[in-house]
Amino acid sequence: MEKIILTGDRPTGKLHLGHYVGSLKRRVELQNSGLYDKIFVMIADAQALTDNADNPEKVRQNVIEVALDYLSAGLDPEKTTIFIQSQVPELAELAFYYMNLVTVSRVQRNPTVKTEIKMRNFEQSIPVGFFCYPVSQASDITAFNATTVPVGEDQAPMIELTREIVDRFNMIYGETLVKPEILLPDNAACLRLPGIDGKAKMSKSLGNCIYLSDTPKQVKKGVNSMYTDPLHLNIEDPGHLEGNCPFIYLDAFCTPEQVKRYAPQYESLDEMKAHYVRGGLGDGTVKKLLTQVLEETLAPMRERRAIYEQDIPGVYEILRKGSETARAAAAQTLDRVRKAMKINYFDDPALIKEQAARYKK
Ligand code: TRP
Repeated sequence: MEKIILTGDRPTGKLHLGHYVGSLKRRVELQNSGLYDKIFVMIADAQALTDNADNPEKVRQNVIEVALDYLSAGLDPEKTTIFIQSQVPELAELAFYYMNLVTVSRVQRNPTVKTEIKMRNFEQSIPVGFFCYPVSQASDITAFNATTVPVGEDQAPMIELTREIVDRFNMIYGETLVKPEILLPDNAACLRLPGIDGKAKMSKSLGNCIYLSDTPKQVKKGVNSMYTDPLHLNIEDPGHLEGNCPFIYLDAFCTPEQVKRYAPQYESLDEMKAHYVRGGLGDGTVKKLLTQVLEETLAPMRERRAIYEQDIPGVYEILRKGSETARAAAAQTLDRVRKAMKINYFDDPALIKEQAARYKK
């Protein structure tokens, strides 16, 4: 069986460090591993509209932002098909069929949807489209026969639902769809990167982000304002690591080699942490190391971004070509699905012949 990746992001804002460690970094590695036959990365504009129906301009403007973030982070259009969800109408068709296979109470139990409904004050009136986005996500994944879906932890309930839909579809209509596996970040700190304020999650609406497109000055400012240990007032005081952002970010970003290079007085990050806990290590030193480490990731991205920013028509051309490739792939799955569901009336001569014979006098 072919090894195929599908994943994507809603274009509701620029991508930040949470997106990077949660999924984007892994995608670039998987792309460059050569282990996958096909890789699809989708800008989920239709899904973004499920809770931004009244703000189409926001979605429209952020499609290019996300595309620039992808290309800057190292996604290579020669190896990865980058496309826009709405330009593949087969996905909407597939979702329409899958809705028959899912109950309302099943979607209501989805913890990610529950949280999002609360965050958006949708409790009283949930748009039906928003409520159904987990089902539409199952079509995004299965339309491309994806075997692997690299995503952050919050997307796990969607993959779970997709697997259930695949089982149900294949049971009712015969073996047609490929059942995907989720691929989570392997580093605990990457699973859910907190915001710079120490809050649960880095998120645009909470205003606690460092963006991939931030300038060195903005990155430095973000790191310097990070939540650390409120009890660690003097350098000599013993420090606490729990919820301490710079250390959490170092866990997510810093390699052993970078410790050697930027903080040679320590054998490892663990040794540095032990020093902090003992007392005698100031937040400023930790933040300085983090800034250097982040810059190693972000500087090459900025360079690539600067080039693509000067060729916006070229980026749209990448998206147009990618959308065409994606559409052709999804159309093949839809052919199989229509056949399995017995809605392929015009390409089934046997059906017409048989019914003609039945009525023939
Ligand atoms: N729900 C994802 C997000 O909020 C975006 C998305 C849409 C996606 N369809 C997908 C992710 C399919 C993985 C697979 O970022």
